[in-house]
Parts: sequence; structure tokens; C-alpha cells
Amino acid sequence: MIHGLNGDIEQLGERYLFAEAERRVAKFRASHPGAELVRLGIGDVTLPLPEVVVRALVRGAEALGDPEKFVGYGDSMGDISLRRAICERYARRGVDLNENEIFVNDGAKGDLGSICELFEVGGTSLIVDPSYPVYFDASVMAHRKIFSLEARAEDGYIPLPHGIPREPMLIYLCSPSNPTGTVIPRDALGEWVEFAILSGSAIVFDAAYEAYISDASLPHSIFEIPGAEKCAVEVCSLSKSAGFTGLRCGWCAISEKSPLHALWARRRSARFNGACRLTECGALAALSPEGEAACRERIDYYMAGAKILASALTSRKISYVGGLHAPYLWVDCPDGSDSWEAFDALLERVGVISTPGVGFGASGEGHLRLSSFAPHEEIQRGAERILSFF
Ligand code: MLT
Repeated sequence: MIHGLNGDIEQLGERYLFAEAERRVAKFRASHPGAELVRLGIGDVTLPLPEVVVRALVRGAEALGDPEKFVGYGDSMGDISLRRAICERYARRGVDLNENEIFVNDGAKGDLGSICELFEVGGTSLIVDPSYPVYFDASVMAHRKIFSLEARAEDGYIPLPHGIPREPMLIYLCSPSNPTGTVIPRDALGEWVEFAILSGSAIVFDAAYEAYISDASLPHSIFEIPGAEKCAVEVCSLSKSAGFTGLRCGWCAISEKSPLHALWARRRSARFNGACRLTECGALAALSPEGEAACRERIDYYMAGAKILASALTSRKISYVGGLHAPYLWVDCPDGSDSWEAFDALLERVGVISTPGVGFGASGEGHLRLSSFAPHEEIQRGAERILSFF
């Protein structure tokens, strides 16, 4: 018997959303060997890495085997050239950040959770419902209270700081939203920044899908909003934009004007020795002009897949949102079925893997999320099967 374990983890239930979905898929595969499944579930990329990234990885590996070029620990903030390239990327959107304000990480997920360590135990996290389950799970594990804010269909799933107690909170915002695909417009983001400053709150802005925004007037970064430098942390990732779900690289941006900067630097120096050197070589290549062009082709391909799904749903008047600024479509389940029932039925009857909406929060009940990262032939097959199912 071990005493003193974190009971809040037990309270989360046995399985993380994507692990539970995967468990059901594995069970189905075991009982239906040879079934040809269509993968519209977890948002995992399927196109190979851009050639320029692969070349940089090879060069980086060769350098590690060369006695003249070998180095061990790197800069724990992240390779300086990479941090400068990230700053240049922000500068192209009019955002002024310097290299000391960029902390390279091993993908967004870790930092989205560990940011809770900057805040007192027992404080409150504001979680938009529905949203990426990591915000809720990590907050609960860190012994935080949850203030749940429903993003309602009638508001276009755009969360607004209305009717919320003006208390200090750790506010998680994701734009474009995983799972609904909606983008928080500039004026709404301005309201959030104002609310955070007035209430003494911090905003954690998850921009993992910003590269998918197709409307030039929509903000990609919270730092496009004046005042955000005082209260916001932005977490971004190359997973979905450059195909790094396996390589793992992203960053956390915090202005030196924010008290969070010194705390995060201190926490990080005790917890993290920096991202993998090779990954950083690949990331730098992904942010080069050649890399960005290759990433853009991939994003366009995934969004063309979203269009295939969207056209099929529209042709049958099946209600959905998304698919415009993110590789996700948020679809109403058929005949009032609940999310897990619809997930199981879609899998068992037509062999399509989706993600149950309720896994993103209680208000996601009655929805399914479809992702569009699969090859187009597979998406086309999926669209036909979904139509036969609805
Ligand atoms: C998703 O499908 O929402 C994400 O890819 C899962 C993740 O990034 O953990």
C-alpha cells in the first residue's frame, strides 16, 4: 500500500479521451481482422516530413557523430537561431517578441499542463466547454478548481467573458478551437485580454492550429491584441503545421513584461534541459522559406480533405461547424444519439473512426469530431460511409 498518492488523478477516471477511443478501436480490430477502417479520429498528420526538414535532421545527426562538431547539452531556452526564426515569424504578423521571450519545448501538450505550476494550488482554471481535454485534466491533477464556460452553438462556439465572476483565474483559450474549429475574432480576444487584466487573471492561449486560419483578418496570436503582453502565455506547436507529431517541437511565448516570464524561466530551468537537438534542426528548417512553403502545401492538402467532408455533410444537410480554419469538423450525432453511442456505431457499422464530442466536455455531448488528416482517397471513402450511416 502506498499512501499520499494524488487522488485527483484517480478522480479523472481511468482513461484519457484518445486512449479510450484507441482502446475501442483496438478491440474492434481484434474482432474484425482485415476490416479496412477510415481514420478520422485523433488529429495525427499522415503526410511525410518536408524534404528540407529531413535533410536538416540528417545533417544534425551527422554533426553529432563528428568530433569537431559534437555538442551535448544545448541552450535550455532552445537553439538561438530557432528562437530568432520564431520571432521573425511573429514579426511578420506585427508581433514584437524577442528571443528571450521564446521557450522552445517538446510540443504544446507538456507546457499546456505544466503551466499550472505557476499558480497557487486550489486556484481556478477557466475551461471552455468543449475544449482540448488536456486543460481540464492537467488542472485537476494540479489540484485546481474548474470554472466551466460553455461555448454555445448560438454564439458560433466563440467563448466570451460575459457573466463571469471578476476573479483571478487561469483562462485557457484555444483558437482555432480544437474541437469546433472556430476562431476567436479580434474583438472577442480583446474582451478576454481586458477581462484578464481587470480580474488579475492569466490567459494561456493555445495556438497549435493558427497556421490553418484562412481568413487574413482573423488573429493568429494573442499578442496581436494590445495588453496581452501583460497577461498572456502563448503555446504553439509544429505538430500540425509541419508534421512534427512524432518529432515533437513547439514553443511557449511569454513577454518579459509579464511576471509570468521570470516564474516560467525559473520553473523550466529546474524541469527541462531543452528540446532534442535534432528536432530543433528540423524545426529551424521547417521555419525557413522552403520549409514554410512545404508546410503550406501540407496544410492546404489537409484542408482540401476537410472540404470533402464538409461537402458530403452539406449535401445531406447534416449539421456541423468547422472545417474552415482547422482540420476538424464538429458534427451533430444522428437521431439524438449520445457521443460514445455514435462513435461505437460509426466504427462498428461503417468502419469510420471519429472522436466522441463529450470527451471535450459535457457540452460536447451529442457531437462527434471528424478530423481531416487522412489521405484524400480515405476521406472520400469516409464521407461515403458517413452518408450511408446518417
Ligand atoms: C487531437 O486529436 O485533438 C490531438 O491531436 C491530440 C493531441 O494533440 O494530444
